[in-house]
Amino acid sequence: MTKTITVLPGDGIGPEVTDAAVRVLKHIFDHSRTDVRFVEKRIGGAAIEADGTPLPQETIAQCRKSNAVLLGAVGGPKWAGMAAKMRPEQGLLGIRKALGLFANIRPARTFAPLIDASPLKASRVAGVDFVIVRELTGGLYFGKPSERRGPNHEQVVDTLAYSADEIERVVETAFQMAEKRRRKLTSVDKANVLESSRMWREIVNRVAKRHPDVAVTHALVDSTAMQLIACPAQFDVIVTENMFGDILSDEASMITGSLGMLPSASLRTDQLGLYEPVHGSAPDIAGRGVANPLATILSAAFLLRYSLDRAHEAGQIERAVDTVLARGYHTPDLKISGEALDTAGMTDQVITALDEAFTKEKGEMEA
Ligand code: NAD
Ligand code: IPM
Ligand code: MN
Repeated sequence: MTKTITVLPGDGIGPEVTDAAVRVLKHIFDHSRTDVRFVEKRIGGAAIEADGTPLPQETIAQCRKSNAVLLGAVGGPKWAGMAAKMRPEQGLLGIRKALGLFANIRPARTFAPLIDASPLKASRVAGVDFVIVRELTGGLYFGKPSERRGPNHEQVVDTLAYSADEIERVVETAFQMAEKRRRKLTSVDKANVLESSRMWREIVNRVAKRHPDVAVTHALVDSTAMQLIACPAQFDVIVTENMFGDILSDEASMITGSLGMLPSASLRTDQLGLYEPVHGSAPDIAGRGVANPLATILSAAFLLRYSLDRAHEAGQIERAVDTVLARGYHTPDLKISGEALDTAGMTDQVITALDEAFTKEKGEMEA
C-alpha cells in the first residue's frame, strides 16, 4: 500500500528546511521506485492566519491517517504577545499530545569535520555520542492550565503532573534504547526538591530490574547541565522530564556547533512518528534561504528508519551528510573555514553524495 507522509512546514525557516528534506526523501524514493504520497497541512502561525487556530482539526485528522509526519518549526515575533490559545507553539504541543507521541529522541553526536565549530574544546567534544530521551506529552508542559489569579491577577500556577504509567513507558523506551547502545542510562531529575522526581526515581529503579544489563545512574538536572559541558563523552542514553529534556537538548546542540544540526524523532509504541529538527523557526534568518537544512534532513533519515522500516536508506542519508561535511561544505551558522553554501546548495550537495553512494552500491552489486 502507498505510504503517506504528512508535511507540516509551519513558520519562519520551517518551510525552507522541510522543502530541503522532502527533496532528499523524494530523491530516495525515486531511486528505489517507491510510491510515497506527500500531503502538506498547516500548523502554527501559518494556521492561525489561515484557519484561526494553530492546530486545525483537518491537520490532526490527516496526521492520524499517515505513516509519518515531517514538521519544520512553529512560532515567531508576530504571535509573541498572544494568549496561549493563539500561540503557534500550542499547535506543536497539541499535535504531539493528539498523536500520543510520548518519547522524543534527540541524539547529539560529534561530526568530526565540525569539531572546531563547537565553542567547547575539541578534546571535550571528540567522540561524543549520546541520546536524550525526553518525555513529551506530560510534565510541566501539560499540567493543569494556569490562569492569573488574585485581586490584581498577579498569582500564577504551572503544574508538573505525571502518572506512573506516563513515566514508566518513556523510561522503558530509554532502557530499550540503551540496550542497543553502550548500556548506560542516566536518569535526570530534581529529586532533591520535587516529589514528581522522587516518584520518577522509584519507577526507574523498578524498570531497571527488567534490564539488568543496563548500568543506571540517577543525576540531578542542574549538575547534568554542568556535566554536559565538562565531560559530554560520559553519556550514552539520558532519560528525563519534558522541560528538563527541552533545555538539555538545546545545550547539547552546542557540542555539534549549531542548533541547525540536531534532528529528533517523536515516537509512540506503534510505527507512527513525528520528525522535526530540535531548533525553532529562527525568525532572525527566515526568508533568506540560508538556514541549515541538515537537522531536518537527518530527521527525515529517522523517519525512514522508525516509521517506514527503511534503515538502509536512513543510513545512506546519514553517511551522505557526513560526506558533505567532510568535504567542507556548510551553511553560515557553522563557524568553520571554507565557503558557506545556502540551504539549496547544501541540499544539492547531500543529493550529489547520495547519487555517488547509489552508483557505488550498483557497482558492488554488479561485481
Ligand atoms: P530558534 O531555534 O528558532 O533559534 C535560535 C538561534 O539558532 C537563532 O539565532 C537561529 O538563527 C539559529 N538557528 C536555529 N535553527 C537554525 C538553522 N537550521 N540554521 C541556522 N541557524 C539556526 O530559537 P528561538 O529564536 O528561541 O525561537 C524562535 C521561535 O521558534 C519561537 O517562537 C519559539 O517558540 C519557536 N521554536 C519552535 C520550535 C519548534 O517548532 N520545534 C523549537 C524551538 C523554538
Ligand atoms: C522544542 C521547542 C518546543 C518545546 C516549543 C516551541 C513548544 O522548544 O521542540 O524543543 O518546548 O517543546
Ligand atoms: Mn526546545
